[in-house]
This record gives sequence, C-alpha cells and structure tokens, in this order.
Amino acid sequence: MAHAYPAPITGRHPGWPASFGALRVPAGVVALRPVRLRDAGTWSAIRIRDEGYLAPWEPTTPGGWAQRHAVSEWPARWLQLRGAGRRGAVLPFAITLDGRFVGQVMVGNIVREPLLSAYVGYWVDSTVAGHGVTTAAVAQVVDHCFSRVGLHRLEATVRPENVASLRVLAKLGFRREGLFQRYLDVDGAWRDHCCFALTIEELGPGGLTARVVASGRAERV
Ligand SMILES: CC(C)(COP(=O)(O)OP(=O)(O)OC[C@H]1O[C@@H](n2cnc3c(N)ncnc32)[C@H](O)[C@@H]1OP(=O)(O)O)[C@@H](O)C(=O)NCCC(=O)NCCS
Repeated sequence: MAHAYPAPITGRHPGWPASFGALRVPAGVVALRPVRLRDAGTWSAIRIRDEGYLAPWEPTTPGGWAQRHAVSEWPARWLQLRGAGRRGAVLPFAITLDGRFVGQVMVGNIVREPLLSAYVGYWVDSTVAGHGVTTAAVAQVVDHCFSRVGLHRLEATVRPENVASLRVLAKLGFRREGLFQRYLDVDGAWRDHCCFALTIEELGPGGLTARVVASGRAERV
C-alpha cells in the first residue's frame, strides 16, 4: 500500500508558528495563535481563579497551584514552549475569543516518521465553557495538524469522569480505542484514562472544521 508521508522535513517545523481562525460560536469568534509572553497576566488570573475546575483533570506537578500559576511562572513556561515549538516537538496554541486569551490547545509529543503522531490537550476559561469554544478550537487545530503539519494520527486521553471533555471528543468524531489503566498522575493519584484517536483517513471532506460548521455548532467568519 502506498504511503502518504510528506516530503522529508528540512529546516523549521512545518506548520509552526501558525495563527488561524476564525469560527463564530454562540460565545463569540474563536481563533488560534501561538502563546505569547504577554499572555502571562490573563493566563495566571484565569488559572488561579479556576483551580477547582481545572485541577481534577490536569497532571499533578510539584508546588502549590497558586505558586505554579503565578504571573512570574509564565516566562519560563513560555520559553520552554517556544523552544519545543521551534524544535517541532509541540504546537502550543492559545485559544482566543473575540481576540481575548481564554485557554490553550496543546499538541504535544509530536513524533514524525514513521508514526507521524501526536496528542492533543486543551482547557478553557470556566466563564466561557459550555458554548462550543473548545470544540471549535480543537477542530481547527486538528485540521491544521493533518494538513500543514503533515501528521497522520492524533490521540487524546481523558478521565472517564470528565463529561465535558468526552463530549468535545464525541462532537469532533474522535474514536474510542480503549482504557489506559493508571495512566497519568492527575490531581494527586494515578488515574485511568480513556484513549481516543483520529487518523487522517477518518476526516470527511473539509475536515473537522467543516463537520462542526455542518452540524450548525459554528459558522465561518
Ligand atoms: C473540557 C473543556 C475544555 C470543554 O470546553 P468547552 O469550551 O466547554 O467545550 P464545548 O462547549 O465545546 O463542549 C462541551 C460539551 O460538554 C457538555 N458538558 C459540559 N459539562 C457537562 C456536564 N457536567 N454534563 C454533561 N455535559 C456537559 C456541554 O454541554 C457541551 O456539550 P453540547 O455542546 O452538546 O451542549 C472545559 O470544560 C475545561 O477546560 N475543563 C477543565 C480542563 C479539562 O478538562 N481539560 C481536558 C482534559 S482531557
């Protein structure tokens, strides 16, 4: 069977840096761009306010929540993300709503040939949750990964209790592959995660963005 590998990669990471959008959802216009140094204040304010909503689903890391999300923590994180982005290991997107930073979509662990695979993770400000923002953002990122970035497979892992995240993946058409037992240390313990995936063959014409638009959940701007 013929392979569909893109041409060998030379120079910089394909598809990065990238900015795109926009899709209108009931909450406003959703677009994506690389995270910026000046996201520090907004990132910190949302993350500290939303500890109770975010912590049950995110990897456990050393230090207290407030300390890890202080404004002063962002420059080092941002530098690390920017470096990893330039090396082609990650795509660290900010989600914007009407131009305002409201969350992140992170494509991580990018492995090129022979796998052409990565995982996708996301979070959004609780004050805009439930209005289709993440679904619209992830759809656009997935389409970018399968086009400009040249990937073949994307994975997402979700705790079985995370109803909102499971719903995002269902709306996008991610396929459940199984259960990873004690997969990730989240909120202080090793937690089972459902594994979902999508390969390029499963995209319809126009990709996930077209699917989200056709379902009436978003419209192109
Ligand atoms: C998961 C998350 C990113 C979803 O973001 P979002 O912008 O609200 O997502 P969307 O609005 O596109 O879709 C959410 C869906 O879940 C549904 N939902 C949310 N909470 C729900 C609940 N408790 N029970 C049932 N459905 C729920 C919403 O109604 C919506 O479905 P609908 O469009 O069919 O009505 C957001 O909740 C979040 O940041 N959570 C904390 C961090 C996190 O869990 N990250 C993912 C780790 S895998």
